[in-house]
This record gives sequence, C-alpha cells and structure tokens, in this order.
Amino acid sequence: MAITALNLIIFTILLFLASALPLTKSQQFSRKLSKKEMGLKVEKLSHLHFYFHDIGSGSNPTAVHVAQAATTNSSATLFGSVTVIDNLLTLGPEISSKTVGRAQGIYVFADTTELALSVVYNFAFSEGVFNGSVLSVLGRNPLLSGVRELSIVGGSGVFRFARGHAKLKTVETNMQNGDAVVEYNVYVFHY
Ligand SMILES: *[C@@H]1O[C@H](CO)[C@@H](O)[C@H](O)[C@H]1NC(C)=O
Ligand SMILES: *[C@@H]1O[C@H](CO)[C@@H](O)[C@H](O)[C@H]1NC(C)=O
Repeated sequence: MAITALNLIIFTILLFLASALPLTKSQQFSRKLSKKEMGLKVEKLSHLHFYFHDIGSGSNPTAVHVAQAATTNSSATLFGSVTVIDNLLTLGPEISSKTVGRAQGIYVFADTTELALSVVYNFAFSEGVFNGSVLSVLGRNPLLSGVRELSIVGGSGVFRFARGHAKLKTVETNMQNGDAVVEYNVYVFHY
C-alpha cells in the first residue's frame, strides 16, 4: 500500500507527540509534592546511645593523621592538623562490645586559641532497623569541655529528612597515644 500524504501527516504528528511528551516531563524542574505521596507518615524522635573509638595507635588504626600545616607543630592547639577516621561505634564502652556502626569522615583542629575540632562525618549504622542507614554529622567539638554538642544535618535510609543533635562526652583518654573513647547520645527526628 502506498503511503498517502494523509498517512504521512498522521505519522509525523504521532512521532511528534511521542517525543514531545517525555520531553515536557523531563524539562519540569520542580513540583509540589505531598508527604503522603512520598510515603512519609508520622515523624518519629529516636534516641541512639553508643560509644565512639578514636584509635590512632597500633597496627590497625582507624583514625589516621593525614596532613598538617608547616606551623601545626608550633601551635599549642594543633591548628591545621587533619585526621581521617573510620572509627568503630559500639554498644558498650569496651571496643570488644557489639558493633552498631562506624563513624567515617574527617576532623580538623580548626581553632587557633582553644583545642577544638571541626568535624564532618557520617555514622554508617549496621544494627537492627538502622542497618544500612546513615546520619550525617557536622559541628564544632571543643575537646576540653565536658559535654559537647554536634549537629545532625541529614541522613539516608530510615534517616531520610533527619535532623537533630548529638551530645558527646569523652569517657577515656590514653595519655600516651591519644586514643579515646567517646560516649554519644544522639537525638534525631526522622520518618
Ligand atoms: C612535626 O612533628 C612531627 C613529629 O614530631 C615530625 O614528624 C614532623 O616532621 C614535624 N613537621 C614539621 C613541619 O616540622
Ligand atoms: C546488615 O546489612 C548487611 C547488608 O545487607 C548484611 O550483610 C548484614 O548481615 C546486616 N547486619 C545485621 C546486623 O543485620
């Protein structure tokens, strides 16, 4: 059967519609969405309690000093020192107690007048319903203060839309090598 002019016009229109539809959709930059459509129901408040092991000594350190400024050695507050961590988070204060996750990221000595860290890390949990979920932590940690506070700025998995804060307290410091155990109480809103 010969292709008539009408067939050709219809075919062209169909082709145009087929290509124009998804194009229109992909060009939409933003839209309003209800919480229901996202499957978000009631916001929950969770309290997590665990211990953070900052271990720089031995043959398997999880806190490694990676860089510092030329002036860091002469700074009383170690200003300019950078450490990368993959520290264990455990249920009890002993490192041999049950692992609940890991703290991965960096801390830097970022204060010229006081021993204070600026921290950026992720708590990657491996326990129970939190297994595979992450909380992102950001904040200032003045090491010599009793209880410090960091911000929970977000998360993934069950912690999508998370926000909250962590209270932390050093419970043990090894004066020879600087290794430390820090108790964390995390209060976080999530769905
Ligand atoms: C700082 O001190 C460390 C340890 O004593 C040493 O290895 C390093 O070379 C020093 N760095 C500078 C820039 O002086
Ligand atoms: C956590 O999830 C990983 C990957 O899915 C799995 O291999 C592991 O056994 C889980 N751990 C716990 C404690 O459920």
